[in-house]
Formats: sequence, C-alpha cells, structure tokens
Amino acid sequence: MAEPGIQSDRSVSQLRCIGCGQIALPDRFRCEHCRDLLEIIFPSWEDRGPGGLSSVALRNLWRDRRSSLDPADQSGVWRFREILPEIAKEQIITIREGNTPVYQLPHCATSAGVKQLYAKHQGMNPTGSFKDTGMTVAASFARQAGYKWVACASTGNTSASMAAYAARGGLYSLVLIPDGKISWSKLSQSLDCGAITCQLKTDFDGCVRVLNEVVQRMPVYLLNSVNPYRVEGQKTAAFELLEHFGWEPPDHIIVPGGNLANSSAIGKALREMKQLGFISRLPKISVIQAEGANPLVRTIRETGGENLVPVHADTMATAIRIGNPASWKKALRVIRESEGTVEQVSEIEIALAKAEIGAEGIGCEPASAVTLAGLKKLVMKGFVKPNESVVLVLTGHVLKDSEYTLKFHRGDLFAEAPFEKESHVLKPQQRAPLSLEPNVEAVIELLRSAEK
Ligand code: F0G
Repeated sequence: MAEPGIQSDRSVSQLRCIGCGQIALPDRFRCEHCRDLLEIIFPSWEDRGPGGLSSVALRNLWRDRRSSLDPADQSGVWRFREILPEIAKEQIITIREGNTPVYQLPHCATSAGVKQLYAKHQGMNPTGSFKDTGMTVAASFARQAGYKWVACASTGNTSASMAAYAARGGLYSLVLIPDGKISWSKLSQSLDCGAITCQLKTDFDGCVRVLNEVVQRMPVYLLNSVNPYRVEGQKTAAFELLEHFGWEPPDHIIVPGGNLANSSAIGKALREMKQLGFISRLPKISVIQAEGANPLVRTIRETGGENLVPVHADTMATAIRIGNPASWKKALRVIRESEGTVEQVSEIEIALAKAEIGAEGIGCEPASAVTLAGLKKLVMKGFVKPNESVVLVLTGHVLKDSEYTLKFHRGDLFAEAPFEKESHVLKPQQRAPLSLEPNVEAVIELLRSAEK
C-alpha cells in the first residue's frame, strides 16, 4: 500500500509510463492504466537544462565536486545530482558509492581479439556491486517519503546493498532470497547489516511474485530494480565512464543481463547525455546472458522483441539466474536505439572469462564475466571490429562468490555437471593451492619448476 499524499507537481522529475505515457504518482512502480513500468523524466530540462546549467558548466561542476569534503559531493552518484530526482540533502543516505575505476585489460583484449578493452568496475562500490549506485537514490527517496520499511527480492547483491543503505538510513529491511541459490558471502552481508532475511523455497522469480503481494498489503517500499529511482542512480556509472574518456564515447559498452535494469539505466544515461549535448553519438550497448538464463536472447531471436519468452533459469552465475526479467522492454529499447545486440554464453565460457579477468589482477564475480565471454563471440561474429574500443561493465567484486573461484581452481566447478567433459579447456587457467612440507628446499624447487 503506497503512502498517500506525495506531490508530484513540485519536483523537477516526474514518473511516466513507458507504455502509454501517462504520468504516475512518485512512489508507484507500474502504470495504473496499462501496468507497464514507469521511468523518470525531467520536463524542466526542455527549456533550461539540468540545474539551469550548460553541459560545459555541469562537466566542470561535477569534476570539482570530487575535491570537496561534503559527503554528497564525495559520492560518485550525488556529485551528479543535477541529473537525478530531487532529494533533500538531509535525507541522502550515502556510503560514498560510485567513483569506481576504469581499468585497461590488455591480456583480455588479446584473448578477445580487440585492441582497446576497458573495464568499468562497479564491483568496487562499498558493498561490492553496482547496486549501491541505485540503492543510494531509492533508499533516500524511501526515507524522504516517510517509509519505515524497505524490501527486495534478490539474487544476493541487491539485498546486500539494500541492507547496508537501510541500516545507514535508520530503515528496517526485509530480504527475500531463493533458498540455497545465492552465494554465502552475499547472504552474510544482509545478515551483517541487520536485515530480516528470508530464504524462500523457490527461485528469484518466485521471490518476486511473493514480494509483489506483500508490498500491496503492507506499507513497505519496494527496492527491486522496477523501482525507477534505482535506475536513476545506476545512470551515474555511464556519466562517470564518459567523464573518464573526456566525453568521447567508446564504440561498444557490454553489460551482463539479469533483470535488465542496469542495461536500461546505462542506455537511459547515454540517451540523456546526447539530449543534453554531452555527446554526439551513442555507443552500441550489448547485453550478454548466460545460456541457461537467456530470456532476452530468446525474446529477440524468437519473437523479434514482440513478447517476452520467460525461461526456467539455471546458471552458476547465480546473480543473473533470472527467467522473467521485469525491465525487458526498457533494455530492448536501449539495444535498438543504440544499435547494440544480445548474446548468450555457456557456463564454460563464463568460467574461462572470469579466470582471465582474475589473471589481470582485477577479478569479478561470475555474472560480470559474461561480458568478456560475450565480447569474444561478438568479435568472432564481426559485430565488434578489432579496432573498435570496448568497455565491459563489471558488476560485482571477486569476493562476492569465492566458492566459485575456489572450485574453479581446484577443478571441481564442473564435477558431475553435464559439460564436465568439455571443461578440460579450463586447465591452463587453473591454479589449485599446493600443499607442501614446511621446507625451504621444497618451496625453492617449486619456484624453479614454475619458472620453467
Ligand atoms: N551482475 C550482477 C553481479 C548482479 O548482481 C546482477 C543482478 C546483474 C549483473 C544483472 O543486472 O538485473 O540489472 O540486469 N542482480 C540482482 C540482485 C537481480 O538481486 O542482486 P540486472
């Protein structure tokens, strides 16, 4: 049950239905007329630009804020506040999210067959995933709107992030996660931050169904990615990326696809940057899914994007184990208008790509590694040309799923899996821990043989 009485006419932003274009109240998630998702629009930009400033003035302001000591300026999200919905400064809940690094990946570039490959590492956020950039905005909105409780269904990262922001903001939080299907480290994060954490005997899509009913009946604010304020915060990763490249867009941005909000957010950011004159062309935005959790790939290939093809999802990249993605229409629009594409990758391809990113000294969780695995395929198909610049959006930190990494290096990841036989291609990347006697000669001997 939404809290009544929140005014929309005073704010700089409005919620609009992506289907029929009707304006909605600021704390709704779906259109009351056609049930489609909502997105935030900024009508005042038409006549005076964000904050009444030119794109040059905004670029300077956003850069200068990095040296300020104000918590909102130190946040890589709130330093871009002119392109975000208005939140009173005292309501902002920030853990200094954003300002994440862009790394070059020379070895992965060679392996994929491109010259310029970069990673925007969103796993370097406070709770270890890109979710923090959206959560700071949506949790702050929840507090400003007077909610006491926030809730989400999650494959683990949203819940870790929500639990942290709720705790920092003095809100109670409820987490619904699929029993046994998320990594232990992510589960431990929501416990650590004091969230009420429920493991439901279903998958992510089942958790979403239950939670949607709960929020209808209780005054609990939904922080899943259908929440349009989350999408706004997640836009800032693209603003930062373009700032890093001196506002010269790369040729391709490659994003993992789960519930499909992040690709939507990055696409929205680039659309707005073009509208506001920051950039003159859009990079191609492509979305990669795991073969076992490929509803968007199937939707495009089998129906030309007309109808969603939900699937029963299964992948070891548990963060994107999603069969019925809520934001598929938004993502489809982004892919179409940027002339990007979709691709799917196998479990073995994901494992190999993750090890290669790890071997660059950066690391990421399995769901993020689909981007490199997908890039390899897009180069082979000629969609990405060897001389084009490519950015992979890495969404989660390597410590988010250390069990996967350990199993990979020990050679156990695919034991008894249907593709166990094919997994021998991973051998050259595997570095199992070695057991030795506490003996100097034994260690030196090992070093010598490793050098060879
Ligand atoms: N990468 C990671 C590490 C994720 O945790 C997720 C989604 C995605 C990619 C996909 O992003 O849903 O915007 O397409 N995780 C959600 C969660 C669903 O509950 O943590 P998306």
